[in-house]
Amino acid sequence: MRLDKFLADCGVGSRTEIKTFLKKKRVLVNGALETSPKRQIDEKKDTITFDGQVLSHETFVYYLLNKPRGVVSATEDREHKTVLDLLDDMARVKEVFPVGRLDKDTHGLLLLTNNGALAHAMLSPKKHVDKTYRAKVSGLMTVEDQKRFGQGIALKDFTCQPAKLEILSLDEEQESSLVEITIAEGKFHQVKRMVAACGKEVVDLQRLTMGPLTLPEDLDRGDYRRLTEEELASLEIFDVAL
Ligand code: URA
Repeated sequence: MRLDKFLADCGVGSRTEIKTFLKKKRVLVNGALETSPKRQIDEKKDTITFDGQVLSHETFVYYLLNKPRGVVSATEDREHKTVLDLLDDMARVKEVFPVGRLDKDTHGLLLLTNNGALAHAMLSPKKHVDKTYRAKVSGLMTVEDQKRFGQGIALKDFTCQPAKLEILSLDEEQESSLVEITIAEGKFHQVKRMVAACGKEVVDLQRLTMGPLTLPEDLDRGDYRRLTEEELASLEIFDVAL
């Protein structure tokens, strides 16, 4: 590929900026100064350095974000801050997008990537990827509700697949519950609607897991990091090139 494309893919700057960087002798190819943007390089074999730093060319990138409340799971929005606004410049260069959506007021685990095949596999209803949510609920959830979740709750427009409702704690005085809900689908407002079907209301919703990925305890709300080698390896179950 052309050297300027390689540098742009690595997030060094725009094509125009890169031209200037090359003129200013800030780029080496295999230890030798290179000033031509048209120079053909082999990204697998050649060593490219910018300001003394070796650059590595990645096709796919994977970000794990602890989405805070108040941002939308989109790449662009006229009115609201998006999850892309929380990531670094490389995320935009690589054109990452969220794998599925969380509601604006939901927080927790969100995977963002530019690997379309992986996103497609993780969101495919056929793959039954489990997602676990922790919910604070206004109202006391019951064993009866657990049974309804287990049988598959019928909503107005569709019947949910069997889901798991675990009651973590009940506060009789405040009439509130803390629960964990695991679903294998991802329909619009699904968790909130399932709880509403039991006559209660979700007042806080956090996603804890998606497939093999778990929200790291040390990742503050609004923070993100790239997937670790282990997390990436855990995605091999989806049988797509990573
Ligand atoms: N279910 C919901 O109701 N909201 C979400 O954001 C995710 C699942």
